[in-house]
Amino acid sequence: MKARTNRWDDHFARQARSENWAARSVYKLEEIDLRFKILKQGDRVLDLGCFPGSWSQYALKKVGSPGRVVGVDTRGPLELPHENFTFIKQDVFDLDPYRLAAESGKVDVVLSDMAPSTTGIRNTDAARSMELALRALEISMKVLSNRGRMVCKAFEGEDIGRLRNMAAAGFRDLRLLRPTATRKRSRELYLIGINFIKS
Ligand SMILES: C[S@@+](CC[C@H](N)C(=O)[O-])C[C@H]1O[C@@H](n2cnc3c(N)ncnc32)[C@H](O)[C@@H]1O
Repeated sequence: MKARTNRWDDHFARQARSENWAARSVYKLEEIDLRFKILKQGDRVLDLGCFPGSWSQYALKKVGSPGRVVGVDTRGPLELPHENFTFIKQDVFDLDPYRLAAESGKVDVVLSDMAPSTTGIRNTDAARSMELALRALEISMKVLSNRGRMVCKAFEGEDIGRLRNMAAAGFRDLRLLRPTATRKRSRELYLIGINFIKS
């Protein structure tokens, strides 16, 4: 009997299952990382919107045993078999970045793949996505160490310029990338901040 597939069961989804990643989105982070050298051995990483966990899995692999990954999501629990992984079940709007920094120490990389539950109403969805991206940027500016890096999901539209301008106040280098694994109909792209200037 032919296996049942759904419309999202594409090449990346099948590859993710066969390689034991929690989600196909891992290939977006992998492409960004290979291009911009975001994650390094020993890094301390904050992964916002980490569920079901593929970005945290990838980050754990890259940072190795001297590194640390803290994942935050409203969904969960998320259990990954790594002693250097901590999960916080929380809404990012309730997260106290200063307390987090005090408890977790310096953060080298902030990842945000956060996406809102979509309503199908274009403007509403775009506005909610933008709020999440702005919150991820705000947290990054508070917790990142000097020369830190950020990867933040955003959506094409007029607000991307605003996000970019705000990020320019903190990062020496900014890039935008639409990874190959992004679905054709999606308007998502990623803002990548490199070389954070700690003031
Ligand atoms: C596309 S998924 C992330 C996938 C993840 N990067 C991975 O590779 O497994 C987006 C996540 O953002 C989370 N999210 C959305 N709004 C949030 C919020 N306000 N606070 C925390 N997490 C949020 C959702 O619960 C969802 O799990």
